[in-house]
Amino acid sequence: MLKTDVIVDLQYGDCGKGKVAHFLCQRGSYTHVLRYNGGCNAGHTIFHKGKKFITHHIPAGVFFGIPSIIGSGCVLDPVQFFREIEMLEKGGVPTKGKIFIAENAHIITAKHKAEDRKRGGKIGTTGRGNGPAYRDKYGRTGVRAKDIPRLRPYLIDLYKEWCSKKNANVLAEGAQGFGLDIDWGDYPFVTSSHCTSAGALLNGLPPKSLANVWGVAKIYETYVGSKKFQPAGRVFNKMADVGEEFGATTGRRRQTNWMNMQNLERAIFINGVTHVVFNKVDVLKEIGAWALYDKEKKVSFKNEKDMQGFIVKRLKTLGIPKSRIYFSASKERI
Ligand code: IMP
Ligand code: MG
Repeated sequence: MLKTDVIVDLQYGDCGKGKVAHFLCQRGSYTHVLRYNGGCNAGHTIFHKGKKFITHHIPAGVFFGIPSIIGSGCVLDPVQFFREIEMLEKGGVPTKGKIFIAENAHIITAKHKAEDRKRGGKIGTTGRGNGPAYRDKYGRTGVRAKDIPRLRPYLIDLYKEWCSKKNANVLAEGAQGFGLDIDWGDYPFVTSSHCTSAGALLNGLPPKSLANVWGVAKIYETYVGSKKFQPAGRVFNKMADVGEEFGATTGRRRQTNWMNMQNLERAIFINGVTHVVFNKVDVLKEIGAWALYDKEKKVSFKNEKDMQGFIVKRLKTLGIPKSRIYFSASKERI
């Protein structure tokens, strides 16, 4: 039997998928952790044994010695890949025999990176070559992982991997977020891959293997990119400061706003979410302001409890019980 759990970001990336992956790896019995989309535009910040790690390609499973795979839905920059392996080894995380790359994943070349740095400004891309690599993949002129001799020791065939294990239990972690999805995000201010839970299945995972979908949101919203996102108001700068809202990949300051309930409901529905984690509750606690947008109106709350009560009630109507909703106020725990 093959079983798949998915971690998907319900907003614009940076909601703390890394932390949720880390939590699930600790308590679950996963045989594989799979990154299912994106390239090194992603930045996962993980606190492990008191140390801070930022990974771009390699999934969180490696911190627990779980075989970690960069899937066929991803694009891979070999330079960054080897740099990351070195960083993990230096940080005391063993990688030998634990990291794999789908042989049909596509490659980000030096040319892709140069092009993205030159032309990605309109969208405010991370400049990591993601868009050009996916364009060449779909244009059928791309280079695949199996074409690169240096990557040979890491290559696997995902079909053989899923089907050869008697009881594979896969944790599939997404990159970026629903609001940046190529189809469902605010086009053209999107990334070039499928960020939804459906995107996980594109990595050779049969739909009937899908068990739980962990949706990750922030209790407020952030966005990095070139469109205007942050409204006027001092509170939003405060959110960014207290929340340390700087991109893990590019160091850019993230724009902030209150959480949008309708966008969240849409993301929960389309991704088939079964569990929701709201991160960074500690940030609103520190600034002492509780609000969200509902049906285009700002709704303010007296305190944390009132806001949580409102959210819990709404998610119940979407079939998500209170016991599957987590409000996290810690960098290390959910
Ligand atoms: P690209 O993915 O580098 O092409 O960038 C497209 C858009 O997605 C830009 O607005 C980026 O800032 C955003 N983006 C890409 N990766 C991430 C991420 O991991 N977190 C947040 N935003 C991201
Ligand atoms: Mg990130």
